[in-house]
Amino acid sequence: MSKLWGGRFESDPDELVVALGDSVRFDSRLALWDIRGSEAHARMLGRQGILEQSEVERILEGLAAVRADVEAGRVQWDPRLEDVHTNIEHALVQRIGDAGKRLHTGRSRNDQIALDTRLWTREQIDVVNGLLRDVQAALIDAAEANFHVILPGCTHLQHAQPVLLAHHLLAYVEMLQRDGERFRSLRRRVNRLPLGAAALAGTSYPIDPQQVADELGFEGLCANSMDAVSDRDYVIEFCSAAALVMMHLSRFCEELILWSTPEYGFVEIGDAFTTGSSIMPQKKNPDVAELVRGKSGRVYGDLMALLTVMKGLPLAYNRDMQEDKEPLFDAADTLRLCLAAVAGMTRAVAFRADRMMEAAGEGFLEATELADYLVTKGVPFREAHGVVGRIVLHLCKKGRKLPDLTLEELRGFSSEFGDDALALLDLRAVIERRNHPGGVAPDRVAQALQAARERLEEA
Ligand code: ARG
Repeated sequence: MSKLWGGRFESDPDELVVALGDSVRFDSRLALWDIRGSEAHARMLGRQGILEQSEVERILEGLAAVRADVEAGRVQWDPRLEDVHTNIEHALVQRIGDAGKRLHTGRSRNDQIALDTRLWTREQIDVVNGLLRDVQAALIDAAEANFHVILPGCTHLQHAQPVLLAHHLLAYVEMLQRDGERFRSLRRRVNRLPLGAAALAGTSYPIDPQQVADELGFEGLCANSMDAVSDRDYVIEFCSAAALVMMHLSRFCEELILWSTPEYGFVEIGDAFTTGSSIMPQKKNPDVAELVRGKSGRVYGDLMALLTVMKGLPLAYNRDMQEDKEPLFDAADTLRLCLAAVAGMTRAVAFRADRMMEAAGEGFLEATELADYLVTKGVPFREAHGVVGRIVLHLCKKGRKLPDLTLEELRGFSSEFGDDALALLDLRAVIERRNHPGGVAPDRVAQALQAARERLEEA
């Protein structure tokens, strides 16, 4: 007879089966949640008269002792016992004897693992939300501290139109806001109790899952026992939301990497968030930003792994699903680390207003303004575009800039240019005129900053 699998087996599993099936090396991370779920389950069994009160009390005492052992790192996780559930049950039985064997009444490891994973993911969502807020706060602080700084806004990485640095940074605040909303929305779907589904078809004991849900803070019950044990869409949603955050962080990091080159010189990242070179003493490298950019790849990989594991599985539980934990843990660990690192790095960035302003003077950023001016004088936009294009070509050839132009020169290209046209050739004026919701005018950006701060405090 097998010690683990009971009477049906004449021998223990082969060593290779142990190696392949071992999940306790990673799912022991769920131990405290596993115990928490067991406590709620045991209390419910007692209240429903499925277990004697005295048995429930022994189980709860035993679980408290096992929890203390887990917290103190005293548990020797045994791969021959497969997973965290069997290891904890074993530890419980060792502590309290036969009463421990009654805990598994009316439940299966299939609903147990779904419960543990949901509890763990729910907690992670709350932690990630706090970290997202930290990054937003760092960006908002930087936007406020550098409020009047102008830099070239780019499309195709070519100078396009002047923008406020604050507006640029607030774009990331918006991205992270949507990321937070995704996590908060997904939390509602995670926060449903699967326990009671047992292996797949429920149980004949008179259980009351609502009691367990109330004790564990679930907003509701899974409505279908087969779905409860067999889907992992909430794990995939978590990794998908994590992948989107990583994509946003990666883009921000990419900009900091570019901006910290001597060619740009827009930022200097503080020493605590940069690294040196082992050979070139002068180097200061933006490794933190590069690592975050690189780690976005592994989180995408975690997401792909999960989608692939799940795609061909018939209902209900299949052991393949044990492969969900490592990608989930990896995605969550990577995400938390990267969010904390980006928050710290953002606070360590010095923005070089002089360099940004100097760059904004290059690249004819006022050109659209001139074209729009001609439109106000009745010139069709397409024609105005052509006139200003010719002005820019002329200046390019002479190595001059738009603000160098005199009114006479302007009028040489179009008689529609009046005295007021020259005033447009000022970066600040260009920015101030973009005064509409979502626009880059300082008044609008100040409002956006204020709104972002208020939202941060509400959330
Ligand atoms: N370790 C398993 C997992 O992570 C727990 C459920 C096992 N159930 C089973 N019938 N083998 O999926």
